[in-house]
Amino acid sequence: MKIAIIGTGYVGLPTGVGLAEFDNQVICVDKERSKIEQLKQGKVTLFEEGLEELFLKNLKEGRLSFTTNIKEAIPKADVVLIAVGTPPNPKTKEADLKYIYAAAEEIAPLLSDFTVVATKSTVPVGTGDKIEALIKQKNPKADVEVISLPEFLREGFAIYDFFHPDRIVIGANAQRGFDRIKKMYAPFEGKTNFLCVSRRSSETIKYASNAFLAMKIHYANELADFCEKAGAIVSEVTQGMGLDTRIGSRFLNAGPGYGGSCFPKDTNAMAYMGRQYGADLSLVAATIKGNTLRKKKMAERILAQVEEVKNPKVAVLGLAFKGGTDDCRESPAIDIIQNLLELRPDIQIKAYDPKATEQARKILGDKIIYETDMYKAAEGADVLAVLTEWVDFKSLDLEKTLSLMEGKKIVDLRNMLSFEKATQLGFKYSSIGRV
Ligand SMILES: NC(=O)c1ccc[n+]([C@@H]2O[C@H](COP(=O)([O-])OP(=O)(O)OC[C@H]3O[C@@H](n4cnc5c(N)ncnc54)[C@H](O)[C@@H]3O)[C@@H](O)[C@H]2O)c1
Repeated sequence: MKIAIIGTGYVGLPTGVGLAEFDNQVICVDKERSKIEQLKQGKVTLFEEGLEELFLKNLKEGRLSFTTNIKEAIPKADVVLIAVGTPPNPKTKEADLKYIYAAAEEIAPLLSDFTVVATKSTVPVGTGDKIEALIKQKNPKADVEVISLPEFLREGFAIYDFFHPDRIVIGANAQRGFDRIKKMYAPFEGKTNFLCVSRRSSETIKYASNAFLAMKIHYANELADFCEKAGAIVSEVTQGMGLDTRIGSRFLNAGPGYGGSCFPKDTNAMAYMGRQYGADLSLVAATIKGNTLRKKKMAERILAQVEEVKNPKVAVLGLAFKGGTDDCRESPAIDIIQNLLELRPDIQIKAYDPKATEQARKILGDKIIYETDMYKAAEGADVLAVLTEWVDFKSLDLEKTLSLMEGKKIVDLRNMLSFEKATQLGFKYSSIGRV
């Protein structure tokens, strides 16, 4: 099949690479010239485990190409996937659809033979109707089916998730739309669940899923606060809960709050839609409020360790919003650092992240010092704070760290380090959901 992908970011690029690996002819379009230039030269523009290898293979074998010129991509395509951003409106927090509609307007006049235009971007309920109306208005002769094809990949596992989806949800209002998308995903036939639903249901499934996962994380965080007061250990509690198959163990890890490019924006957009339709989504609203507050509380928890220290030095491990990615969008680590800088202007922060330094620098600039390994960050620190769950941090040599630090305090907001080892060595060790 010939597939055009509009938007070559965290969703578009791994999806394009995966579909090329399935022997499709894939052309990825992006407005950002520098991104497309790099990709054409064989350089991946974001970090995802396993992405580079598959990208280079498919580029070399001629199944994957890149362009800034949409006219090269649309006329020949059987399927056009829209994977542009849907960022939050800074004021109302609703999903801003300007990139979606701009893409639809550009696609419309170029459509010739029967084409499926499928939205991979996360879009509010009813957006498919608007895209369809817009295309029909610009090009009344277009033979097109507009489909909702929500993306469920997790950053950090994008390639794994592409090849092992839990389900493929197709939202269409006509059979030929389902048929073409099923053909595109034919290699998954018999291996995963295909759910064919109405376009509006499909659009809702994506928001409902993300809001549910965000609520699950927030519930684990509230339980952590409870355990700290009640003398229980949250990791034991959530393990016990997770063994119940009705609950499940995933997304039940207590931590500093959820972040990333999806959960914060999608919960806000869901709450906005609830208000718009007059439907009470109070659980979603409580989750958003609690999660925002949590990041401030986490900064205060770190600062409590250096209350008496003048010009305190904090070593930060982790800047990305989660382990396995360089993405810092809405990263709790960044929020916590910003809170620290605001609450204690005399603070000095030295941070290390295995992949996200450059992305973090774009947000924080020279407000903090960026180190090239965890021990350099720990040198001279009064307190060490673990903010992202990179597996590398599990192997932190605590004896060596102790010898390098000025103070003996650790605030482990990801419960990555050994409580027993840290306390044996004499660290004052504060973790999540355990006294
Ligand atoms: N990142 C994730 O893990 C994830 C997971 C599931 C769903 N989503 C959803 O997928 C969508 C894309 O997210 P992302 O993280 O890949 O965004 P991104 O910002 O990484 O990538 C979007 C890309 O689209 C390009 N673009 C914008 N308008 C364009 C146009 N008219 N023509 C060509 N290119 C254009 C931008 O230059 C950018 O490179 C969002 O709606 C998001 O909510 C993201």
